[in-house]
Amino acid sequence: MSFFRPNVDAIHGYVPGEQPQDTGWVKLNTNENPYPPSPRVLEALERVIRDRLNLYPDPLSTKFREAVGKLFQVDPDWVLPANGSDENLTILMRCFINADDLVVYPYPSYILYETLVDLQGGRHERLQLKPDWSWDMPTAQAAAAKAKMVILPNPNSPTGNRWSDKDIESLVPPRGLLVLDEAYGDFADQPHKGELLKSSRGKQIVVTRSLSKSYSLAGLRVGFALAHPDLISGMRKMKDSYNCDKLSLAGGTAAIEDQEWMLSNTAKIRATRGRLSAALQQLGFNVVPSQANFVWTTHATIPHKQLYERLKERKILVRFMVFPNYAHSPTGEVSGLRITVGTDPEIDQLLAALKEIV
Ligand SMILES: Cc1ncc(COP(=O)(O)O)c(C=O)c1O
Repeated sequence: MSFFRPNVDAIHGYVPGEQPQDTGWVKLNTNENPYPPSPRVLEALERVIRDRLNLYPDPLSTKFREAVGKLFQVDPDWVLPANGSDENLTILMRCFINADDLVVYPYPSYILYETLVDLQGGRHERLQLKPDWSWDMPTAQAAAAKAKMVILPNPNSPTGNRWSDKDIESLVPPRGLLVLDEAYGDFADQPHKGELLKSSRGKQIVVTRSLSKSYSLAGLRVGFALAHPDLISGMRKMKDSYNCDKLSLAGGTAAIEDQEWMLSNTAKIRATRGRLSAALQQLGFNVVPSQANFVWTTHATIPHKQLYERLKERKILVRFMVFPNYAHSPTGEVSGLRITVGTDPEIDQLLAALKEIV
């Protein structure tokens, strides 16, 4: 006998990437930033630790919202801070998706979307990307036209490609919302600054952002949503009163205020991404041009699982991924390796190991 809601019983639950707790790994599997956060973050955290931890944090996260508002040139009422982007995705589902509402998203993409829709009892439809990861636009638009919510990760994960604003705007559902998941937005050659929110469809768009990747704060858990204040004020009702703690708010604010640090790290990562992509191609891998802090790569003859295991034996972790029911593959699935762009010495170690393996 189970006391769980049937929706909970029916799903396996989202399984995050491996997080080994011992040291000595070259960790290229969950798209963390290999560089440390800004020294200003550490100073802010120290100040909080010495401050009054016996008191609750600001439930409205005012300073953090002001810093984000300044950066994106919007009023702080356009900002909803959260315990990482994942929390904002949960809040969005709980706010807008009733049983049987349709949510659509590209496939392959971030696996968590499907888990969240299933938990909510909504219906989902995967928009099968073409083998070059571009849209089958007539099919995607037909699905978006029926949807309550379209979720687009941009750049996409695991593929790393980015779609144009024109494509994105054409997928805003007529009677629903478009969620633009920009967890990797800062790694693009020309990052967005929330321009689509000011477009004619802006009131139906929610942008989610993460400080886990470009700001090197995966361990702190902080992200934010940007949207018209009518949407943000409704979403605020769904969040925990104190969804961001004092440490994440102080650290997050200091990180946002040190743009120079973030921009210099993302520039280094972009340069290493180019070098990694070229070297993988020289080793016989197929590489999708990436706008994120990872690359999606496949090999025509060596099984991807085997490559993952041989690297793991050498304490190098990459993400081996299989997407079943992929429409455009003769085998019915697509698999590959998603490799996070680490430091230059880490990438040299990876490339040396791959050279031996292949
Ligand atoms: C596409 C995408 N969106 C959101 C997230 C979650 O980010 P956060 O760490 O802010 O919860 C991830 C994390 O890997 C991701 O890949």
